[in-house]
Amino acid sequence: MTRSSPQSPMAKKFLSLFFLSIIFSISTATYQHNDGRLEGKVAIITGGASGIGAATARQFVQHGAKVVVADIQDTLGTSLVQEIGTKQTIIYVHCNVANESDVKNVVDTTIAKFGKLDIMFSNAGVMSNPYTSILDVDYDIIKNVFDVNVVGGFYCAKHAARVMIPNKKGSIIFTASVVTATYSSLTHVYTASKNALLGLSKNVGIELAKYGIRVNCVSPYAISTPLMLNAFRLNKQMADKWFAEAANLKGPLLGVQDVANAVLYLASDDSKYASGHNLILDGGYSTTNVALIEVYRKLFLSTTNRTM
Ligand SMILES: NC(=O)c1ccc[n+]([C@@H]2O[C@H](COP(=O)([O-])OP(=O)(O)OC[C@H]3O[C@@H](n4cnc5c(N)ncnc54)[C@H](O)[C@@H]3O)[C@@H](O)[C@H]2O)c1
Repeated sequence: MTRSSPQSPMAKKFLSLFFLSIIFSISTATYQHNDGRLEGKVAIITGGASGIGAATARQFVQHGAKVVVADIQDTLGTSLVQEIGTKQTIIYVHCNVANESDVKNVVDTTIAKFGKLDIMFSNAGVMSNPYTSILDVDYDIIKNVFDVNVVGGFYCAKHAARVMIPNKKGSIIFTASVVTATYSSLTHVYTASKNALLGLSKNVGIELAKYGIRVNCVSPYAISTPLMLNAFRLNKQMADKWFAEAANLKGPLLGVQDVANAVLYLASDDSKYASGHNLILDGGYSTTNVALIEVYRKLFLSTTNRTM
């Protein structure tokens, strides 16, 4: 029998590999969670009180940034900033992004408090009733969604550019959506608004490039945040099951932290030459169209021979 005793060479090798792997995981965790990648930078996060925005606020502070959380959910936003940091590192400012004077105010407050603006994460968004047929769409539905998702994006870009241009640097990031890369017929108004935002980001990126300002989008697949749960009237467990089953990439479930990680990249100097991108975080969902092979299986393969 070849069982190793604690003194045997095999056991020693196993133990040293075990300790090496622990040291490696600790150093990797430290790198991922607090490497000061945003040290000295100042950021505004709209829609920062909840979901993707809140996870990004946490991530930014952990990496050394000063953060202004801008949202319309004042109680949630205030308690979030108290939980994440101190008044020296993170503050909450009420801001309805559909209102230009609110966006101007949040940018001016940021300059007054922290002296500059390096990162504008224009993330606030709303979704309309996901089942609305084109026949039922009216002006109010379009206006409600576009006012926040598109007009809000314009105001964020405009007022960020106003203070970034003199500094000749900055990073503007919009949260678009996987609906900019694939079409699901879920909600025409939301899909149209996110495609408008993508167009805006690419166009503004051209104008602002001469000032050293980068402009990018992050486009996530579905995540169980209040926006999705309320729109589809599902609880988190039901929504997670749905999104996992519909996903192309099996195993991990996309979470707000994954989006925050992508935004951290676009915000930091790690992406210093990345501009004009739509960083799609969808596990390859938008690259797939399984209809042809699925129908082939259904029509021509027996139930016992459907593994291809
Ligand atoms: N959850 C998803 O599946 C998903 C996928 C792709 C894109 N997105 C986009 O991500 C962004 C963040 O959404 P989330 O999923 O974190 O949802 P969420 O509901 O957790 O967060 C949205 C935040 O935006 C804020 N907000 C809404 N209207 C606002 C306004 N007029 N002014 C300022 N703040 C406002 C809300 O108060 C909320 O805090 C949105 O733009 C959304 O369209 C979400």
